Amino acid sequence: MQKAIRQNIFDNAKHWVYEAGERIRDHMQQQFQIDTKSNPNDLVTEVDKATEQFFAEKIRSTYPDHKLIGEEGYGDRVESVDGTIWIIDPIDGTMNFVHQKRNFAISIGIYSDGIGEIALIYNVMDDVLYTALKGEGAYRNQDKLPMLSEEVKLETSIIGMNSILACENKRVNEKRVQQLIKDTRGTRSYGSAALEFAYVAEGIMDAYITMKLAPWDFAAGYILVDEVGGMTTQATGEPVNVLTNNTIVTCNKQIYQSIIKEYIEFK
Ligand code: IPD
Ligand code: CA
Ligand code: CA
Ligand code: CA
Repeated sequence: MQKAIRQNIFDNAKHWVYEAGERIRDHMQQQFQIDTKSNPNDLVTEVDKATEQFFAEKIRSTYPDHKLIGEEGYGDRVESVDGTIWIIDPIDGTMNFVHQKRNFAISIGIYSDGIGEIALIYNVMDDVLYTALKGEGAYRNQDKLPMLSEEVKLETSIIGMNSILACENKRVNEKRVQQLIKDTRGTRSYGSAALEFAYVAEGIMDAYITMKLAPWDFAAGYILVDEVGGMTTQATGEPVNVLTNNTIVTCNKQIYQSIIKEYIEFK
């Protein structure tokens, strides 16, 4: 993607993210309708839908040739990575949005022919925007994030994970995950995949491991972590596929091999 074109897309995306964030904050005091999707804990609100619709309208009127993949159904049916694709989660962390009224983010990853070019993850209530442009580094608001430390060791790491990984499950050996928990300094679970990627990029968490993330959960985070020298793959070690669900490991490179080889064992 040409630099000038990319900058124009980034500037618009940033503008829209701030506008969408303001709308969400305005909505916060009002009652919103809460529905469930695949199960009683899979929540969606009218704010999730309205936010995605807001982005869909902006993108379609400004960039009619771009495609959109979104969680709430306002996107396109996308079957190949060709062209420019916006991958959007209007609210990542809907359960936090509903229960805590904080700790959720707008997540946007923009890909050109399969290459991650632009990332934005906006912690709406804290007004913290993480951004990245491919090859130009990652930022937390105006501050450039340093490359991830080469001193990180597993025994002093903080690992983000969904606790379900450590429970009996059909996919990975939970005993190995329980051992990982014992072998590290501590674990965290924030309930927003996008923010958990951002925390890995910021170096305040050293890894994030989770089952079955959708493209909109990781599209931006993958680009952000890459820009600070972190590593993101499927938990099998295979490259991430941005068009499908992935079981993901994103982390500081120093602990990647150990996590993948010693602790993630598929059944
Ligand atoms: C969810 C959050 C959560 C992760 C789930 C996602 P949503 O996204 O990122 O942390 O564990 O897998 O589905 O539904 O709140 O956008
Ligand atoms: Ca959801
Ligand atoms: Ca999500
Ligand atoms: Ca969502």
